[in-house]
Amino acid sequence: MPEQVETLKKQFQTDLAGVKDLAALSALRDKYMGRKSGLVHALIKQIGRVPPEERRAFGQAVNELKTYVESSLERLRAELEAHAQAEQLERERVDITLPGLRPRFGHLHPITRMRQRIEDIFVAMGYTVEDGPEVETSFYNFDALNIPPGHPAREAQDTLYLSSDIALRTQTSTVQIRTMERRRPPLRIIAPGKVFRRDTPDPTHNPMFYQVEGLTVDRNIHMGHLKGTLQEFVRRMFGPDAKTRFRPSYFPFVEPGAEVDYSCFLCRGQGCRVCKGAGWIELGGCGMVHPKVLRGVGIDPEEFTGFAFGLGIDRMAALIYGIDDIRLLYENDTRFLEQFGL
Ligand code: DAH
Repeated sequence: MPEQVETLKKQFQTDLAGVKDLAALSALRDKYMGRKSGLVHALIKQIGRVPPEERRAFGQAVNELKTYVESSLERLRAELEAHAQAEQLERERVDITLPGLRPRFGHLHPITRMRQRIEDIFVAMGYTVEDGPEVETSFYNFDALNIPPGHPAREAQDTLYLSSDIALRTQTSTVQIRTMERRRPPLRIIAPGKVFRRDTPDPTHNPMFYQVEGLTVDRNIHMGHLKGTLQEFVRRMFGPDAKTRFRPSYFPFVEPGAEVDYSCFLCRGQGCRVCKGAGWIELGGCGMVHPKVLRGVGIDPEEFTGFAFGLGIDRMAALIYGIDDIRLLYENDTRFLEQFGL
């Protein structure tokens, strides 16, 4: 191989060894293969000037060099590109084995679950679920329920007034009146909902709590129907052994009136921490709808009779879920509420 060609090949090999990236490779290509000032092209142009007897060998050597330079550049380019791609893949790598962030599932509030259980039991017994406003007039909250102005019950249920005649309802009994105004007997309704009283909060009192009202009006309804209905409710809620007990009591809108207790679901009447040794737990008030209340909504008490009851939902939830302070139910502390997921 002519010395000139040999020298250029060596120079190219040295240069090639120093190339570390694609930019340097491109510069090297220009240096050797550039159309205008490329070193290999300078040799090609020289071929014509070489003496004829050496021209053939020279030309062949230059051609071989040209092929060698081209294939070397090409090989290195492929190598550098593969390397650059591998580097990029490594840099942008995503670790799919890392555990993701699980979404936190919500669940129903213990009061809501309790309310739904109560609704299911009564709906299965043929009751419909009614609703009424939480902001009420004194008429629905008191007068229509046989609690006239000056009646001690008006003070007993310390009321949160919004104006002289409008207040937050203190009892769901308001829905009895609203329903009987709208619909004629036979009626079988329950009305679960919020009620409000000016109570000082303590472990068993909160200014807002939940009641469920019940009302049945039809021909020939008597106390036996009331007892049977609440007994069946208690049995379905607390189990087949649960018993009820009725104690005479006074509520202006029923006559006779009673308070109903059920046998403690934990000790079955033996006396324990949950029932505070009594063996019985208070469920709520009940009675036969007062004739005055029926007459007030245009129902003839000679033709129709009815029973009503009002039960505390919070207390039932607290007992069933083992909550010793009902205020916890309303603080929306998820650390507390999370315990009552399904
Ligand atoms: N409304 C009463 C209260 O909040 C509870 C009550 C007692 C409701 C007797 C009734 C009933 O329907 O018949 O204390």
